[in-house]
Amino acid sequence: MLNYQVVDTYEELCRIGADMIAGQIVKKPDSVLGLATGSSPEGIYKILVDLYRAGKLDFSKITSVNLDEYVGLGGDHPQSYRYFMQKHLFDYVNIDPAKTFVPNGLAPDLAAECAAYDKRIETLGGIDLQLLGIGVDGHIGFNEPGDCFVEPTHVAELHPSTIAANARFFASADDVPRAALSMGIGPIMRARKILLIANGKAKKESVEKAVSGPITPLLPASILQLHPDVTVIYSKN
Ligand code: F6R
Repeated sequence: MLNYQVVDTYEELCRIGADMIAGQIVKKPDSVLGLATGSSPEGIYKILVDLYRAGKLDFSKITSVNLDEYVGLGGDHPQSYRYFMQKHLFDYVNIDPAKTFVPNGLAPDLAAECAAYDKRIETLGGIDLQLLGIGVDGHIGFNEPGDCFVEPTHVAELHPSTIAANARFFASADDVPRAALSMGIGPIMRARKILLIANGKAKKESVEKAVSGPITPLLPASILQLHPDVTVIYSKN
């Protein structure tokens, strides 16, 4: 079932989203959290850090698995997703660093890295709560529009609109890596609960198509309509 909420402000979105994640951590302290990077979840991570500092959250038994990483960027590159996670969440809470997983964009054998990532998620018992953003083209993770949904974790070529959207984080669009390792639709859909967040006018169309348009690989997020427990929160600004 898909629960779609529209709120007025990004602050409201973050409060509701952070409550859901905090609730999951309190209810199941050894949860496996699927995490996303990008601008959308920044405010949520900030609230989670505040809750930890206030003594209301304990990450010590949590495991995290991130959705994706750019091919060619190591964890110390400021635009890598590992670096993002350290600077927005991991460095400020008591999560065990050995239990934070982000695909390795520098792996010598990318196919083996993808297969090992899926195996790891399976060994962990799957994801309890998966946080997702959405691209203007409807991507989730780096599952870009295409002819079919890609089930396993894989190497994804970035769509031109994604390169353009992410250029804001790099010196120029030419510096944006052309490929990423992305969790596939399979492990995302096997998460027991999914929370997708999006804000601003640019995302309105892709969110609306995702929640009530045709289910098609041309808009990868539309597959979420088939998941039994999805919350989508969209804020107008
Ligand atoms: C990031 C990810 C991407 C983003 C999406 C939206 O880990 O998986 O799918 O969620 O590109 O990015 P923002 O939030 O920056 O608009």
